[in-house]
Amino acid sequence: MDESRQGEKLMTDFAVPNGQRKMMIESYGCQMNFSDSEIVASIMSEAGFGTTRNAEEADLILVNTCAIRDNAEQKVRNRLVFFRSLKKKNPSLVVGVLGCMAERLREQLIEQEQLVDLVVGPDAYRDLPNLIDKVDGGQKAVNVLLSREETYADISPVRLDSNGVTAFISIMRGCDNMCSFCVVPFTRGRERSRDPESIIKEAKELFDLGYREVTLLGQNVDSYKWNMTSKGEIKNPEQSTTNFAQLMEMVALVNSKLRIRFSTSHPKDMSNEVLHVMAKYENICNYVHLPVQSGNSDVLNRMNRGYTREWYLERIKAIREIIPGCAISTDVISGFCAETEEEHQDTLSLMEEVQYDMAFMFKYSERPRTLAERKFTDDVPEDVKGRRLTEVIDLQMSHSLIRTKRMLGKVHKVLVEGRSKRSENDLYGRNSENVVMVFPKGDLKPGMYAMINAKECTSTTLIGEVVEVLA
Ligand code: 5AD
Ligand code: SF4
Repeated sequence: MDESRQGEKLMTDFAVPNGQRKMMIESYGCQMNFSDSEIVASIMSEAGFGTTRNAEEADLILVNTCAIRDNAEQKVRNRLVFFRSLKKKNPSLVVGVLGCMAERLREQLIEQEQLVDLVVGPDAYRDLPNLIDKVDGGQKAVNVLLSREETYADISPVRLDSNGVTAFISIMRGCDNMCSFCVVPFTRGRERSRDPESIIKEAKELFDLGYREVTLLGQNVDSYKWNMTSKGEIKNPEQSTTNFAQLMEMVALVNSKLRIRFSTSHPKDMSNEVLHVMAKYENICNYVHLPVQSGNSDVLNRMNRGYTREWYLERIKAIREIIPGCAISTDVISGFCAETEEEHQDTLSLMEEVQYDMAFMFKYSERPRTLAERKFTDDVPEDVKGRRLTEVIDLQMSHSLIRTKRMLGKVHKVLVEGRSKRSENDLYGRNSENVVMVFPKGDLKPGMYAMINAKECTSTTLIGEVVEVLA
């Protein structure tokens, strides 16, 4: 998943009538988790809970957790220790763990460490009100059952910390890929796709509320398949079938002023059909997040990624041919099991060849139960992992700067998202290629489109001036 908000916390606050219990949700990890927190907020507000940003004022604190790397888990643990300390002042405070750490750590969190009252896995959020009743009755409550069907299709998410312009729509859940380093198939279960009608309905509702960009979310959006088995057989002949390219086209047709983004694509599954749909619709952004993980085919094989370096580069070529100027980002893992210096050099040379616009880069972190934990030894020393990661990051920084410099002196269509953090007189938005642009606010408002000329840049941001305000 695109982890641009990784490690950030997400909280929310809206008016709470007197006497109503207040809940605080903190989210960690990928966009999928942030999107799930919005489903949880919807379920809990139906159950009569209001929300607060202030932990000391909350009656219920829910922490939506991430297990993807060990440091993500450590961060959450520290927060749970802090929340437990609040119980001294407020003994009726209920603290719950949601999301990816739930299944693995339930016993530890509840029984051994007595850190929390409630543990709820990603497919059990509908059960939250019942589980909270159980905790109110003096018991600890756990539901970490994974489902083959749950997509929360009928739940209208409560948009948390929203700018009112951009929103996530979850189109599928789980993952069947079994990349050897990855804990997601264990924490989020089997892959299942959401009914396209409910996705289109959500996109239309968002547009009517003034939203102008949706990001379609899934662990592997290219394997979105409605009404088809993983072998491509039709499940229910009376119903139509939909693949990801078709779904994206349906969302693009909701309104030409609604921008579409999506994440995450998988190199082994990303089809030319998807690329042609992207090229056909101006409102589908010119941006593909295509995690490579490593530039060496042997490492990719150990990672069980299902493609080689050559296959990956052919997919990059297809993107560049079908969508000229398309931005491409990636994920890289440094120091995977038995990674040699030459294999690491292959990652750097692939990065040189592709010249990514952006990348999320990580040190390998061994995760319990994964194929890699069972089959391989986490044998690259920590300092070597660190040094390789630094090399990867330095190279990417130089490529990101080349990318923004290339955008200088050009006019970009930008969707205005909100006020710039740095100045009250400036706004920010993003161009189709997902680069943040900052510009003087003039008469512009969030949700409007404008043509902006890029005048200055850093490796991540363009500073510009407004050339034209679009209707
Ligand atoms: N160690 C390091 N990085 C990992 N990722 C997933 N699992 C691990 C792990 N065990 C990274 C991958 C993935 C991104 C979401 O997180 O690069 O694409
Ligand atoms: Fe993990 Fe691979 Fe699935 Fe991504 S595609 S969630 S890395 S198993």
